[in-house]
Amino acid sequence: MERLYQQVARVAATDAAVLLVGESGTGKELIAQTIHQCSARAGNTFIAVNCGAIPPHLIEAALFGHEKGSFTGALRQHLGYFEHASGGTLFLDEITEMLPEMQVKLLRVLESGAFMRIGGNGEVRVNVRLIAATNRDLDTAVRERNLRADLMYRLAVFPIRIPPLRERIGDVEALALHFLEQLNAKDDTQKVFARRSLDMIGSYSWPGNVRELKNVVQRAFILSTHTLTIDECMANFSIRKPTLREGKLNFFVGTPLADAQRETILATLRHYSGNKRLTAEALGVSLKTLYNRLKDY
Ligand SMILES: Nc1ncnc2c1ncn2[C@@H]1O[C@H](COP(=O)(O)OP(=O)(O)OP(=O)(O)O)[C@@H](O)[C@H]1O
Ligand SMILES: [Mg+2]
Repeated sequence: MERLYQQVARVAATDAAVLLVGESGTGKELIAQTIHQCSARAGNTFIAVNCGAIPPHLIEAALFGHEKGSFTGALRQHLGYFEHASGGTLFLDEITEMLPEMQVKLLRVLESGAFMRIGGNGEVRVNVRLIAATNRDLDTAVRERNLRADLMYRLAVFPIRIPPLRERIGDVEALALHFLEQLNAKDDTQKVFARRSLDMIGSYSWPGNVRELKNVVQRAFILSTHTLTIDECMANFSIRKPTLREGKLNFFVGTPLADAQRETILATLRHYSGNKRLTAEALGVSLKTLYNRLKDY
């Protein structure tokens, strides 16, 4: 995360296009906003567009605008997000949801800094900083043709990967306290976490990342009068996965044995860098048993 903050600070000072890659809820939009706020464009508009939420046949008009009469129902000229974001930053979320034909057009704008409104005949020049985001693996997205390779290379001049929360489990407690502080400030309260609750949230794997954590804290905050007990909220989670942290596995009481066994085997295998003989020895099972288990998993 410290490296990420350095990258954000460095890229914010430039006008380079940025590609943010991270699972849902890791903070892509927050980082896009941060880049904007730390840039010379901070005084201008930041516009966030979720490409997945706009019907494909409307996205061109949404981004580039249209002239009056350019299609049935185009009663007046309409400016697109690119023009609205002029001088500022345009954040295109879920870029892989955009059809490849649109991705070509986007690439052209990135290269030339100009585009045409639908039905227009003159080029419109804009000064917009583009930040794109995806929660997909880039190589897979390119292979499955959800992301054009040429656009990816153009955007990936500055790729920033945001790690999932389970890879920075040391951040969980700090984030939880931060969200609690925000809620306390808003409601003018002084609620605190029960120690056990902090331990619990620190050993959960957070598949929904920071957003999930934020929601859990909020729910616990609402349900408590003074001391936040996460227990009741966590009890709703079906996935209480064991987590690996600094060579130690953390298990919840009540973890199904099959899960405990699987996590132990996989963590040990990882510890021995995939060496199956050492892994089997350490776990006190035969190599054959280990192979069988791995095959099952
Ligand atoms: N480091 C952080 N500090 C404080 N709040 C954070 C942090 N990271 C994420 N959040 C908060 O978590 C929530 C989710 O973040 P955000 O919307 O930026 O995620 P996202 O990656 O864009 O998710 P999605 O892919 O689902 O759109 C937001 O409320 C955001 O403010
Ligand atoms: Mg988002």
